[in-house]
Amino acid sequence: MNTRSVIRRVRGLPASDGAGVKLTRVIGQPALDMLDPFLLLDAFGSEHGADYIAGFPDHPHRGFETVTYMLAGRMRHRDNHGNSGLLTGGGAQWMTAGRGLVHSEMPEQNEGEMRGFQLWVNLPAAHKMMAPRYQDIAPEQIPELEPAPGARVRVIAGEAFGTPGPVRDIVTAPLFLDIALAAGAQLQVPLPAQHTAFVYTFEGAGVRIVDSTLDNGELGVLGAGDMVELAAGADDARLILVAAQPLREPVARWGPFVMNTPQEIQQALADYRDGRL
Ligand code: CO
Repeated sequence: MNTRSVIRRVRGLPASDGAGVKLTRVIGQPALDMLDPFLLLDAFGSEHGADYIAGFPDHPHRGFETVTYMLAGRMRHRDNHGNSGLLTGGGAQWMTAGRGLVHSEMPEQNEGEMRGFQLWVNLPAAHKMMAPRYQDIAPEQIPELEPAPGARVRVIAGEAFGTPGPVRDIVTAPLFLDIALAAGAQLQVPLPAQHTAFVYTFEGAGVRIVDSTLDNGELGVLGAGDMVELAAGADDARLILVAAQPLREPVARWGPFVMNTPQEIQQALADYRDGRL
């Protein structure tokens, strides 16, 4: 097997979104505009209600998928088609915005820890106008494996060590893993050779991949290969490992709309304005 190494390291930027939620923008910022098919990665985490209480009131999406993975906290989701759901710590939501919807994502707590990720995954031209779809995943639906001593893996999407995750039928065939490594633990994870892949570390002092050490809060873009070897140092480490098929299509992007051409963006704005989402 061919080991992937880290070809680029990126640190997130402090940012604010929604009605004033403090977060760290890792993908979708000047240092890493996008990583085909990934359009955005936000990490949020605070124990102070003031940092998140304003939430994400009604806003539209079209042309891609939003993935929310909650580590802690409670977030209520509602859209203009009558769908709603509660995301809780350890759970996930894979939302295919497709041709469009207007939704809100609001904290269902005033204080205490709120922590997790939102990832945006692009849709190919042929699927951008598909019907919106939700996969709401409760924490207990996510398999938790121990494939090597000191390694704990939660499989959210894709398949790892023979175990499929609960998220199904996504066009870009994604893999989304939450991996915790005890100090000194090592883990080899097979990855589809054609997939774009990255690691983002969010607990501990970092993780070693071949001859690079990713610090806590760093994203490592992985180069070519069909597996990655992760090694924790003297501290426990925790990271997400995410991979998906790149689209290699033109990207026209305007806020919450991601299409292939500027004309399609104009159409999305008109459809939103006229209440057609
Ligand atoms: Co949204």
